[in-house]
Amino acid sequence: MRKGILRLAALSSAAVLTTLSLSACGDDGGESQGPGKIGVILPDTKSSVRWENFDRPFLEQSFKAAGVEYDIQNAENSTQRFQTIADQMLTSGVSVLVLTGLDSNSAAAVQRKAQQQGVKTIDYDRLTLGGVADYYVSFDNVKVGEELGKGLQKCLGDEDANIVYLNGAPTDNNATLFSQGAHNILDKVTSYKKVAEQAVPEWDNQRAATIFEQMWTQQNGEIDGVLAANDGLGNAAISILKKNGRAGDVPVTGQDASVQGLQNILDGTQCMTVYKPVKQEADALAKIAVAVLKGQQAQTNGTTNDPQGKRQVPSVLLTPIGTDKSNIKRVVDDGFVKKEELCTGAYAAKCAEAGIQ
Ligand code: BGC
Repeated sequence: MRKGILRLAALSSAAVLTTLSLSACGDDGGESQGPGKIGVILPDTKSSVRWENFDRPFLEQSFKAAGVEYDIQNAENSTQRFQTIADQMLTSGVSVLVLTGLDSNSAAAVQRKAQQQGVKTIDYDRLTLGGVADYYVSFDNVKVGEELGKGLQKCLGDEDANIVYLNGAPTDNNATLFSQGAHNILDKVTSYKKVAEQAVPEWDNQRAATIFEQMWTQQNGEIDGVLAANDGLGNAAISILKKNGRAGDVPVTGQDASVQGLQNILDGTQCMTVYKPVKQEADALAKIAVAVLKGQQAQTNGTTNDPQGKRQVPSVLLTPIGTDKSNIKRVVDDGFVKKEELCTGAYAAKCAEAGIQ
């Protein structure tokens, strides 16, 4: 009880301090009064453009609309930085801590520390295995993988095909689920043969290119389809296919509906991407965070199994959208990607052909 009062006092003085420093540096927003502050730690800037180009602005929008204070930071692919940011946020008195972890161990350590201080945590996009998050907000990630599988199958048809998998980081539970979903679809197609499958550490695009080049050499170029887990990994494979004069003949998948991925689709070098309307994810997160701030029960639409922690985490899971040339327009219509960004130069004609106005 006493601890609670002390914490409250610390909270309010921290809130005043942060409000002051915020107006000075302007890296934050929301209103100064309200039920408390939400801290968000995003993972990195390179594994996907989504974190800085989509998640940050959409989260800002959602928090502003909800009228809550927030602080969004990026760990820049360093678990040490992740830890430091978390410590700073806890000291500055955040009441809810939202994490997209780099790996489950470091994220779980932060969650336990937060819990000891009475701060609730929410897993955003990636589930922290063995963690103690109160909620999880994401897309149905097995379904994301199934969309990848279905997309590749649509591009390959039912002919015999040698397939390789470029999976995401082995430390990211989502990467496991994406691969699982893709296998759910592709393993059933008896004319396909998996000739290689490898995880790309840290989702590093450079390493993905090296890994794919090795696969290409080992298979003597006899690769007919590439199940790449996101647009960055897909683009790495495409760069090697280009070097070998085969880009466009070998379908490559992707995820995140990044401008680069979408342009590759318009070029015909990438077969599809998975569009995840991150605005919905950010809105769902803001709703839960606000309920938690107010001490209310948040609304969820399911649970997610944490096999390591042996528990079911209350979750909001959204639906991903498999996207190829036939429905690429939707991404622009939704305002996810701006036409001015996508349809530059030579892409203007290709955009028009795809019905993007
Ligand atoms: C996200 C993907 C993203 C990848 C790399 C995953 O956890 O769900 O959208 O492409 O991480 O950042």
